[in-house]
Amino acid sequence: MTPATLDIHLTDEDLTAALRKDVREGLTATPKSLPPKWFYDARGSELFEQITALPEYYPTRTERALLERVVGEIAQIAQAEVLVELGAGSAAKTRLLLDALTSGGPLKKYVPQDVSVSALREAADQVAVEFPGLSVHGVVSDFTATLDNLPRGGRRMIAFLGGTIGNLIPSERAEFLSGIHEVLEPGEQLLLGAGLVIDPSILVPAYDDAAGVTAEFNRNVLHVLNARLGADFDPSRFDHVALWDAENEWIEMRLRATADMSVTIPALNLTVDFTAGEQMRTEISAKFRRETLESELATAGFTAERTWTDPDTRFALVLAERR
Ligand code: AVJ
Repeated sequence: MTPATLDIHLTDEDLTAALRKDVREGLTATPKSLPPKWFYDARGSELFEQITALPEYYPTRTERALLERVVGEIAQIAQAEVLVELGAGSAAKTRLLLDALTSGGPLKKYVPQDVSVSALREAADQVAVEFPGLSVHGVVSDFTATLDNLPRGGRRMIAFLGGTIGNLIPSERAEFLSGIHEVLEPGEQLLLGAGLVIDPSILVPAYDDAAGVTAEFNRNVLHVLNARLGADFDPSRFDHVALWDAENEWIEMRLRATADMSVTIPALNLTVDFTAGEQMRTEISAKFRRETLESELATAGFTAERTWTDPDTRFALVLAERR
């Protein structure tokens, strides 16, 4: 077996610098906000893994079942030689894709990308063991900024699964899709997983589970600020809020201060005041309509070749070809 190689385009210092900038911007603005990418330190990644197993959190298992059903068709259409997986994380769904792309097609190389070195190293090594014929080359980077670090050559398919596209606001989304268009050659493919607009009575509990795991996940961003920036947040004094924004068609997660608080962030030389009841946005998770998803892809220079949905139309997989 050839061991997995890892390209690190993002060091710990890069990460802290990016976090500093995001936190200064987000916490000095009105209203305050923090970008969702900072949830995922080791504990946050572990909490997210727990979320995927919650009865209320349907996206992961829905996407997985859908992928299981259609992955053969995807492999047949895509004929990919290289699979690039953005935000691979623990790469749990990857095996399905790799199985189909290796048995039914010409796959030679797997390129998982993630911001987390630890998650990536583990996932890449495991895949290298399980698929000895495959060359595995991990890329540590920020998917919104460093698409150009992805290897070139070979017919590529970029997979961006899990519905993480929903974490981007519409303008960021357009920029991101155009960025993918830019790195791909005509005829290469994008496989996109996206949550669909469904009844809020199912959506909201998926982001506000009875066991409180999502609440803990939400508060974890404050632990990250404490650990990386020396901040003195007391996460237990923030309540988890999840609401459906019907106009924007996204779930919004917030943290609500339960009391007046003054928080110091030494790494930024900053003191931030919260008033009791003040809410800070920590994530949007946009849901899509099939037509808007396909037209956003078209605008970015892709042709949606096939769209598959689960029987309850909660989730979509779109295979799109770069024009
Ligand atoms: C990992 C971004 C797909 O938006 O559903 C889960 C993150 N947030 N519960 C999502 C998340 C709250 C998740 N993604």
